[in-house]
Amino acid sequence: MEVRLQKVIADSGLASRRKAEELIVQGRVTVNGAVVCELGTKVDPGKDHVKVDGRHLKPAPPQTFVMLNKPKNVVSTMSDPGGRGTIADLLPGVHVRVFPVGRLDFDSEGLMLLTNDGELAQLLLHPRHHVPKTYLIKVKGMLAPEHIDALETGIMLDDGRTGPAVVKKVGKATENSWLEITIFEGRKHQVKRMLDAVNHPVLKLKRVRFGPLALGELPTGQYRYLTDREANAMRELARERQDAQAGGMQAMARQARAKRARAKWARNTRSSRRTKASSKRVST
Ligand code: URA
Repeated sequence: MEVRLQKVIADSGLASRRKAEELIVQGRVTVNGAVVCELGTKVDPGKDHVKVDGRHLKPAPPQTFVMLNKPKNVVSTMSDPGGRGTIADLLPGVHVRVFPVGRLDFDSEGLMLLTNDGELAQLLLHPRHHVPKTYLIKVKGMLAPEHIDALETGIMLDDGRTGPAVVKKVGKATENSWLEITIFEGRKHQVKRMLDAVNHPVLKLKRVRFGPLALGELPTGQYRYLTDREANAMRELARERQDAQAGGMQAMARQARAKRARAKWARNTRSSRRTKASSKRVST
């Protein structure tokens, strides 16, 4: 099966997709002995000999999925220029180069998915087709039914109106409320900003579901590999996103064709009107 050259390099774990593209453009990659600088080049990893700086790529490691229960006060990236604790510190036994699918705030906790499959991660993070994510939140004060309605129908934030959310009251409290909120987008600090907008700031936030995955009883700060069933569910979700995006591209192409046809029709109509008008002038 033919695959894009940058994917083959990235899948081998040698470099990220972007770095692989740089290596290709810099002329450091050969396929069957010939330098390839074209980013669109496809190769068959089973047959073609791909080398970077004269060295064969290592065989691609198996697709890996890890679920982590991120604690508070840890950054959700694999490194931090500020020297704070990162999620990489919590994955001592994971020897495959994985990276997080999305982020959680420094003071948020809960479910994070990590994978070594960059393409799958991109599909799951697509801004228009975000995976549903459920958060257990503690908010200041008691939410009135109209606030819940507003959260569910959409809240105007400084980067636009949020899409519909699903909100469930959980547990009883006297001064604060515990809620479960499911959102279908992935904007920065989205849940906190939504609750700020209805004047009930978030005091605690824990992600408990990510698409088909549930955090369950995984202790804070611990990780586990996904079961085969969970990994298959994530692959299935990514396939659905891919189809949705391809459908979207086809619809865009259809719209562009229709627009070109309308413009051509308008041009032809204008020019035939001009021809008629000038022949009328000649004959009078
Ligand atoms: N929404 C937030 O505001 N913070 C998070 O960490 C996740 C979602």
